[in-house]
Amino acid sequence: MVASTTADEGWDAIWVDASLATLDPGNRAPFGRIEDGVIAVKAGLIAHVGAGDELPMPAERMAAVVHDAEGAWLTPALIDCHTHIVHGGHRACEFDLRLQGASYADISQSGGGIRSTVMATRAASFDELFETAARRLGPLVSEGVTVVEIKSGYGLDLDTELKMLEVARALGRRMPVKVVTTFLGAHAVPSEFEGGADRYIDFVCDEVLPAAVERGLVDQVDAFCEGIAFTPQQVGRVFDVAHMFNLPIKLHAEQLSDLGGSILAANAGALSCDHLEFVGAEGIGAMARAGTVAVLLPGAFFTLGETVKPPIAAFRKAGVRMAVATDCNPGSSPVTSLLTTMNMACVLFGLTPEEALAGATREAAHALGLAAERGTLTVGKAADFVLWRIQDPAELSYRIGFNPRIEVIRAGAPTLI
Ligand code: NIG
Ligand code: FE
Repeated sequence: MVASTTADEGWDAIWVDASLATLDPGNRAPFGRIEDGVIAVKAGLIAHVGAGDELPMPAERMAAVVHDAEGAWLTPALIDCHTHIVHGGHRACEFDLRLQGASYADISQSGGGIRSTVMATRAASFDELFETAARRLGPLVSEGVTVVEIKSGYGLDLDTELKMLEVARALGRRMPVKVVTTFLGAHAVPSEFEGGADRYIDFVCDEVLPAAVERGLVDQVDAFCEGIAFTPQQVGRVFDVAHMFNLPIKLHAEQLSDLGGSILAANAGALSCDHLEFVGAEGIGAMARAGTVAVLLPGAFFTLGETVKPPIAAFRKAGVRMAVATDCNPGSSPVTSLLTTMNMACVLFGLTPEEALAGATREAAHALGLAAERGTLTVGKAADFVLWRIQDPAELSYRIGFNPRIEVIRAGAPTLI
């Protein structure tokens, strides 16, 4: 039901009879819930959040448009804070090899893995990359994702790294989603630099990253710290250049082994460390002190048949924030559902449904440095939220392969998806 009238309060719109899961840390109720809630928007921002019976005037006098949520649950819009959604080709053949017993590291060392996607991405045109990424982004948008992080890292040469980031920017312009771009030039050593990781890092630091920054294509900088990728010392050089450009940093850290990347990243002020299956006590301590978010990627854990889990209990104890993301990529996590990823975070890692929803909203906003403007239903933040046909917010993590989204509101307005 929509009623139009003159608004005394001047709000653009209000949703009444909503069950709000605010995720606002100031609200101690589970999920920060407000039953029989109302939420109002003005100029694309949240202007009011509260209980319906506390409105000083009838809703019709306070907002130009009144939406009746009819008891539906309303949460902050979802944020996918770690993806490699722009890439060429696929790696279904590796999936088969892994099913026959080959490990991710074996495949990488024999020339497959990231390098095979690099060849496919270099060969793909801008339009091909755009179309294929848009097809993967569609399902995320349909689940209420309004912010997505997209990494480069399958080009590993100047032209293709720039092409990937340009595609990412184009997705943000043409699809109903805000895109945060991340430069991941230090993702793997490309074959033309075989045996010359340090020389490749020189190239990334001296040529590729500066060129991408100059074109306005980089919001943050990431790297892959691992035996099959780069050492903490090499990553540190990339971080130094990121700092020179005042760009926030993050790191693929301790996915397959503990090289101490998380310590380096946290001490350098990283927004997040991602994966973290093998992180040790020192890394956890450094992350806690720095406020670095642990981005959990259960899709990669699941796909690679990993058995070592990230230390969830230790993160909780140390007060490390935990975000949840798809890691959508063709090798380790061909996942295009954040809701399914939330389920995996609960079933595989033992997160509570509330932690999983916070992980895909509030904590994901922290992982992208966007906490002041997104991630909770809080006055002053972007009016991005989702109405769901569910009885309880835990249902978002509990069902598998089910999308109960009714409507996505972006900057205060319903989006067509
Ligand atoms: O996040 N770990 C490194 N990078 C990606 C996988 C890249 C790939 O296998 O293509 C990840 O899992
Ligand atoms: Fe990743």
